[in-house]
Amino acid sequence: MPIHFERKNQRFLLTTKNTAYAFDIGAGRYLVHTYYGKKGKEISAFEGAPLSFGSYPESLGDKWNPDEIPQECPFFDSGDYRISALRIEGKDGTSVTDFVYQSHRVFAGRNDIPGFPTADADEKTKTLEIKMVDEVTGCVLYLYYTVFYEDDVISRSMKIENKGKDTVTIERCMPISLDMKGCDYHMVSLWGTHNAECNIQRFPLHHGVQSIFSRRGSSSPQHNPFLAVSSPKATETKGDVYAFNLVFSGSFADEIEVDQQSNTRVQVGLGSDTFAYTLEAGETFHSPEALMLYTKNGFGEMSRLFHTFIRKHIMPPCALEKHPVVLNTWEACYFDIDEQTLFAFAEESSKIGIDMLVMDDGWFGARNDDHAGLGDWYPNPEKFKNGMKSFVKGIHERGVKFGIWIEPEMVNQDSDLYRAHPDWCLRVEGRELLLSRDQLVLNMANPDVVAYLKKSFDATFGDVGIDYFKWDMNRHLAAVGSPLVSAEKQKELRYRYVMGVYDLLQYMRARFPDAIIESCSGGGGRYDLGLMKYGFQIWTSDNTDPYARILIQRGARLPYPASTMSCHVSDPHEDMKSLDFRYKVAVGGMLGYELNILKMSEGVKKEIARQIKEYKSFEDLIRLGDYYSLVCPFEKGYAAYYYADKEGTEILFSLLEQENCQKGETVLLRFTAAKADKVYTDVLSGKTYLGSDLKKGVRFSLKGEKFSAEMMHLIAK
Ligand code: DGJ
Repeated sequence: MPIHFERKNQRFLLTTKNTAYAFDIGAGRYLVHTYYGKKGKEISAFEGAPLSFGSYPESLGDKWNPDEIPQECPFFDSGDYRISALRIEGKDGTSVTDFVYQSHRVFAGRNDIPGFPTADADEKTKTLEIKMVDEVTGCVLYLYYTVFYEDDVISRSMKIENKGKDTVTIERCMPISLDMKGCDYHMVSLWGTHNAECNIQRFPLHHGVQSIFSRRGSSSPQHNPFLAVSSPKATETKGDVYAFNLVFSGSFADEIEVDQQSNTRVQVGLGSDTFAYTLEAGETFHSPEALMLYTKNGFGEMSRLFHTFIRKHIMPPCALEKHPVVLNTWEACYFDIDEQTLFAFAEESSKIGIDMLVMDDGWFGARNDDHAGLGDWYPNPEKFKNGMKSFVKGIHERGVKFGIWIEPEMVNQDSDLYRAHPDWCLRVEGRELLLSRDQLVLNMANPDVVAYLKKSFDATFGDVGIDYFKWDMNRHLAAVGSPLVSAEKQKELRYRYVMGVYDLLQYMRARFPDAIIESCSGGGGRYDLGLMKYGFQIWTSDNTDPYARILIQRGARLPYPASTMSCHVSDPHEDMKSLDFRYKVAVGGMLGYELNILKMSEGVKKEIARQIKEYKSFEDLIRLGDYYSLVCPFEKGYAAYYYADKEGTEILFSLLEQENCQKGETVLLRFTAAKADKVYTDVLSGKTYLGSDLKKGVRFSLKGEKFSAEMMHLIAK
C-alpha cells in the first residue's frame, strides 16, 4: 500500500517502488519527520541532543523542543528557529501560528490545484491529505502528499482556508520541507545567465542557509528551480541523491539550512522575498506542487527517474509524438521579414525535409525593431498585404507546417495597446518606469489584460491553421505594482501574474488543440515544469554556438528530458566540418535549423537533407530513450553520452570534443544499458560490437581538432 497509517505508532508510511517516507503525529499535535530513503531500511526517528535555550509550548513541557525536532511543516516563530515552511501574519500583527493535527484521509488519484499545472495521476497514484488547524487565526491548513508509486516520486502541496473572521497574510510558503539527518551532503543546482544557461554547480553544505532563488517573476536562467542534495561521494552511477523541483514558472526559493545540531533542512517553494498573499475571511490559497525523489544509484538514475516522470506525468501527450524539424527565421532575418521571402523559405525548406517554418519576431503591429509593436497582435499590413489566413495557406501549400512567434506578456510604449491602456502594465505610481529591451511587462494578474490577449489571439489566429506557437518572454519583472490594485494586494502580484500566464496558456491549449507550444524566455530563461505542462519543448538557449551548447545541453538534461531541448543548427558559413559538428551537437535534443536557407549552397542544402533523414531514423531514441551521461563536459573538456531504448537493443552514442581537447587522450566508455548476449551493428559506420564488449567498455581516442565529434547508432540483431 503506497500510503499507510499505523494507528499504534501514529505513523504515516508512504512508499514508492524503491523508496519510503515516514512521519509521526508527535505529542498528538505536530508532524514529526522520521525517514526518507531506501525502502526496507529501518525507520527510526532521529533526534538531536537536548538543546539549551529551547522554547517549548507550556502544555508540552521542555521535553518538546521544536528547534531540535525534525518537522514536516515547521511554522515561523513556533520555537523552531530554523527556516520555516509557513509564515502567516494574523490580525494582531504577529506571525505566530500553531497548526495542530486534526484528521487525515487517503484518496485515489490526486487533488486539483485550481489554476495551477500539476503532475497527472495514473491508476496507482494515491494522495494523503492532512488537516491542521490554527485556533487563533482560524486558518485551516491542508498538506497534500501525492505518491507516484511506479516513478519513485512524491509530490507535496498546501492549501490554506481562512475560516476565521479576520484577514491574514501568508508571508512564506514552502510546500516541501524535508529534515535530513547530518549535514555531510553536497548541494547540486543549475545556475546561468542569458546565453549561458544550465551550468552545473556542486558544493558541500556549510552551517547556515544556502539557497538558490528567482526574484524575477519567472523561474529564470540565473537559477533553475531544480535542486539535488547528494552524499559527498555520489557519482553518475552510485550514491544517495535526493532531488527536488517545483511545478511553477515564477519566482521561487530553494533553501537549505544546516542547523546547530549539524542536521539539514531542505525547503522548496515560493520563499518570502517576493511573495506574500492576503487571505481574507472565507478565502482559500493554494501553493504550487513541489516534487521530490530519492535514489541510491547516483545522478544518472536521478535524471532518468525525473525524465520518465516528466514524460509520463507532466508533458502534454503531443510531446511524446514525433517533434517537427523546424526552420526558424530569427537568426536568418531578425525583424526583416515579408511574405515573399517567407514563401521562398517554405519552398526551399520543404525540398530538404524540414517539417515546419517558424516565423519569429517582426510580423505584427509596427514591429520593425524591438522598440515598437509588442501588444498589437495583428499582422503588419505592409508585410502581410493579404492578411494572416491567406499567408498561412500559402506556407502550407508549399509543403510545410507553420509556426509563429508571440510574446504575450509584454508591451512596448510605442504600441496601440499601451496608448489605450498605460495602466495595464506593471508599474509603481509616482516612480520611474523600469524598462528592459525597451519593453514593459503587462500585469497578467489583471483579468482584463488576459481577456484582451485571448481576444487578440482569437481574432488573429482563430481560423488560420497555426501549427505551433513560440511563446517568448524577453524581460523580467521589476518595480512590480499596479495602479489598479489596493495597497494590501500589491505583494500578491507576482504570484497572481503566474496564474494569469497559466490562464492564458490553458486557453491557448484549449482554443488551438492541434497547435503545439514551444516556450522560450530569451532561450532557456523559463525552463521549468510549469511551462512543460503546456509546451512540448523549450528553446534551450539563444546561444547556438555548438561549443557553448555542449555545456548548456548537458546541464539541461540533468533534470529535464532531451525531448524538452530545442536545438538548432545555425549558420556554418559553408564550412562542412562545422555543419557536421553543429548537427552532432544539436541531435542531443530535438533538431531544428536557424539559418538563411536562401543563401546556402546546394552542397549545404544536400547535407542538411541527409542530416534530417538520418536524424529521423533515431529521433525516437532521443525523445523517449533513457539518457546516460558518460563524461560530463563541466568536468572534462568533452562530453560523451548515449540514449538507449528500454530493452537496451538500440543505442545512440555521441562524443563531442570542446576546442581544447588533447589529441590522443583516450577514454574507456562503458555502455551499461547494452545487452551482453546481443550483437550490435553501428548503422552509421557498419562496424559490429558484442554487447558484452560494449558493457565492458570501448576505448575512444580524442582527435584534438576543431569540430571533432563521433556518433554511433547501435542496433542489436
Ligand atoms: C529571444 C528569443 O530567444 C529569440 O530566439 C528570438 O525569438 C527573439 N527573442 C525575438 O525577439
